[in-house]
Amino acid sequence: MKKIMFVIFLFSFTWSIGQDFDLLIEAESFNNDWKFHRFGEQPEKAGKSIEEPEGLESTAYNDEKWRVLNLPHDWGIEGPFRDDLENNTGLLPWKGIGWYRKHFNVPISENVKQLFIDFDGAMSNAKVWLNGEYIGEWPYGYTSFRFNLTPYIKYDQDNVLCVRLDNENNDSRWYPGAGIYRNVWLVKTNPVHIDHWGIYLTTPKITKENAMVDIQVKVKNKNLNAANVSIQTIILNPVDEKVAEAKTNSVAIANESIHNFRFDIKVENPELWSIENPALYKAVTKVYVDEKLTDEQETIFGFRTIEFTANKGFLLNGKKVEIKGVCNHHDLGPLGAAFNTRAAERQLEILKEMGCNSIRTSHNPPAPELLDLCDSMGFLVQVEAFDCWQEGKREKDYNLFFKEWHVEDLTAMIRRDWNHPSVFMWSIGNEVPDQWNPELAKRLANIVRMEDPTRPITAGCNAGDAGFNGFQEALDVFGYNYNHWSYEKFFSDSANKNLPFIANETSSCLSSRGEYFFPVIDGTANNNLPGKGIFHMSSYDQQYPGWGLTPDKQFKLNEQYPRVMGEYVWTGFDYLGEPTPFNSDITNLLNYKDSTRRANLKKHLEELGTQEIPSRSSYFGIMDLCGFKKDRFYIYLAKWRPDYPMAHILPHWNWPERIGENVPVHVYTSGDEAELFLNDKSLGKRKKTQFEYRLRWDDAVYEPGELKVKVWKDGKEWAEDIMKTTSEATKINLEVDRKEIAPDGKDLAFVTVNIVDENNLLVPKSNNLVKFEIEGQGEIIAVGSGDPTSHEPFIADQHTVFNGKCLVIIRSKKEEGKIKLTAKSKGLVSSSIEIGVN
Ligand code: GAL
Repeated sequence: MKKIMFVIFLFSFTWSIGQDFDLLIEAESFNNDWKFHRFGEQPEKAGKSIEEPEGLESTAYNDEKWRVLNLPHDWGIEGPFRDDLENNTGLLPWKGIGWYRKHFNVPISENVKQLFIDFDGAMSNAKVWLNGEYIGEWPYGYTSFRFNLTPYIKYDQDNVLCVRLDNENNDSRWYPGAGIYRNVWLVKTNPVHIDHWGIYLTTPKITKENAMVDIQVKVKNKNLNAANVSIQTIILNPVDEKVAEAKTNSVAIANESIHNFRFDIKVENPELWSIENPALYKAVTKVYVDEKLTDEQETIFGFRTIEFTANKGFLLNGKKVEIKGVCNHHDLGPLGAAFNTRAAERQLEILKEMGCNSIRTSHNPPAPELLDLCDSMGFLVQVEAFDCWQEGKREKDYNLFFKEWHVEDLTAMIRRDWNHPSVFMWSIGNEVPDQWNPELAKRLANIVRMEDPTRPITAGCNAGDAGFNGFQEALDVFGYNYNHWSYEKFFSDSANKNLPFIANETSSCLSSRGEYFFPVIDGTANNNLPGKGIFHMSSYDQQYPGWGLTPDKQFKLNEQYPRVMGEYVWTGFDYLGEPTPFNSDITNLLNYKDSTRRANLKKHLEELGTQEIPSRSSYFGIMDLCGFKKDRFYIYLAKWRPDYPMAHILPHWNWPERIGENVPVHVYTSGDEAELFLNDKSLGKRKKTQFEYRLRWDDAVYEPGELKVKVWKDGKEWAEDIMKTTSEATKINLEVDRKEIAPDGKDLAFVTVNIVDENNLLVPKSNNLVKFEIEGQGEIIAVGSGDPTSHEPFIADQHTVFNGKCLVIIRSKKEEGKIKLTAKSKGLVSSSIEIGVN
């Protein structure tokens, strides 16, 4: 019973809690002790494939030799990186066919119950059997699904649940991951129970004095006879006090049928959910059969109003809020697609610090826990369904399933997430090739509206035409991805004058943390130019692909066109795959029109002695793949938190090869005027003019020493930053994100490894190999550096530092105690750090 309570509180807000677990619904984590084996394409070598034998689903199959593992699991992230694989999906061996088998026992005392298996997500083409009997399939890797196990269960005997995943018949534009990469739950209910995603709760009227909660509860009767069912819902406020309740009359529900109860509850003086104060209420819904409690579920919700207007933008609780958003793919860097709540929480903490208030889950529904976190941390979320509809972007992408499955997938997305206060928009698709098919868009929008009429529908449109060809009429909020060249036309078209507008994808600025190239080029001039041909992009944040913009240029547009209610930057974090501009095959790259670029690339490939491009992850992130901040973090911080005093100098100040030469200095600041000093000598004052977001000293000449910037805002001293030339690297410095983690076998500590000089200054270009030793109640589950070209494994106890930093991710074991991590590197003083596990 203790275990169940634990699961409920940590990982799901929607499961029931009750006094009597024998009676009520139970959701048990079903993550542990799965058997796994990989068939089809094998990870190590091109062309190596193991034939999938017949009968793997049979109870008689001997799986003794299969690997034992716990979920969530991503077989792709285990590597190795391979040059012969497609770098658009990360050079990782995520293809192949994976089989999972789990043995479990159900006591005969439970034969009156209904048993369900809930998958939060499985990549991809899942087929499921229980005890050799085929139960069903679910192709799309990103939506959640349930199967009823009851008819196939054998009581007091070994049951074998088998899952076959087929990634050979799956294509993607990014790294999709592979395997049962999210949580799995075994759900046990009484015969009369709340149906799957059967509670839908809305707040149709909210005033300062009171609010109405409209509750719908779908109850299913799997008894042999009709049942007299009534519902009671109790509302608890954010400090868990009961503030309201309601009870329905009893209704006779025939066996094998469902009844939808609908009733209101009035709550006095509601505390509103907002970004700054994400107040969460709970609705505890109880199901009674003949006055006997038979099911109970807890739903987390919030009171907030959302309004989308053409002229005033987005209003949350009646107040205008600019959307300061980022798009994110689902992978968690070195952890791959395998979901981990703490890893997602850490990303959100970094985004919050930057002033980000919204996430677009590009281009698919997220893990449910991400939304729980957004509810409690105060993020607005645009949940996106698809990257294509009928017409695909790849041969074997969702186009194969669209016809048969889009209703199922859309419905699954909406019903699972419709109670989250953080979810404020549904996106029916990203840059779908069907942007010239308004009828199809309308059909999809109607499915969404029928399910949930309380949130607007948007889409990410990269076709300028979609703003005029009728596609836009399907949407409640029109969203261009990039396409800034179409803004003017869109806003001046009278047919669109009442259509709210959001920049659903912006910028796509490219940079590698800690890399700077000269001369500093603004992206428009040479926008696909690879930095000096070394497969890095300059961190002056001024390069982007042909469709993108610098952060600054997008800020200007957002200000110039007040109808833009905000933006979603591509992307918050670097992700595996899509290493634009190095994601073409080599022939394409060698055909660059730009001869300098071509020559650079050829020369560099010769130096490397290869014809393969090493890049395996994106350069788009404001943070790198490990979550380390790039310079770009600070330009968003400056813009998105204007009241937070800050200044940030770039680049680093170690340029021994450029003494006496030009090294431009840029400063990102929330102030409006600044003076830069080099070794106490003023290099002059600069003042931001209208639509200027960075201050620049383009003619600065390098000499070693100290750069210092003093910043003013409205004539008052505001902030300062210092950047110093460092001496040689002498030691390792370890920093951990939290000093204590939980003894649950899931919690993580993120340890940053910094290579520093004798004054503890980060040595910018250091690239030492660091080895790790760990003792106590934790294990290293991944390492990384954020270098998009590194092919070192993520699962290892050593890693090469990239520009001064690398990361160690430690997972707690299940016992209390301590963890000690030691980092050693040749020629450097080692370092240790202790983390409590309590
Ligand atoms: C967009 C697309 C994203 C990503 C991005 C890169 O057009 O929606 O998925 O590919 O470009 O700039």
